[in-house]
Amino acid sequence: MIYPIVAYGDPVLRKKATDIPQDFPDLNQLIDDMFETMYGASGIGLAAPQIGKPIRLFIVDATPFEDDQELSKEDRAVLSEFKKVFINAEILEERGDEWVFNEGCLSIPDIREDVFRKDEITIRYFDADFNEHTEVYSGIAARIIQHEYDHIEGVLFTDHLSALKKRMIKSKLGQISKGLIRAEYRMKYPLAKKKR
Ligand code: NI
Repeated sequence: MIYPIVAYGDPVLRKKATDIPQDFPDLNQLIDDMFETMYGASGIGLAAPQIGKPIRLFIVDATPFEDDQELSKEDRAVLSEFKKVFINAEILEERGDEWVFNEGCLSIPDIREDVFRKDEITIRYFDADFNEHTEVYSGIAARIIQHEYDHIEGVLFTDHLSALKKRMIKSKLGQISKGLIRAEYRMKYPLAKKKR
């Protein structure tokens, strides 16, 4: 089942998400639905708050980057296998120099901005079978995780922008909340006027 994607301005995107117990009902179905929803919107990452659920779950599938000739061979090799489910994730450490990457978000359509983040992370999480992992990521894989991890902390990529950039996109964000934009996928707008 494809969920509508919650748009900027919905309070669920601002909640610190809660841990998922191992006996969470229909978790595998929810994960399948999240992948279907993400693919339906041509995304490479999706966090549960973006479908209205404030729980610590996000998914990534960056395997389409495998053929992106603008990326380094190393990045392409990593991303070609980078399809994962992250449950109850905790970023334990972020290291290295900050670098800039142009980010976008399914909850904030039509806005892309350069965001600075550190290069390398250590993350602990559970996979879909509730096996625990602690792994190190760098480059674009780390970047995708950092963006999705922000979602389960109630943070959006626009929060990382300068005061000036925030002012420049403020009215556009307001239009997104009201549904006065066109997305290529179904969305739920927090401030949309009800149709009569
Ligand atoms: Ni996002």
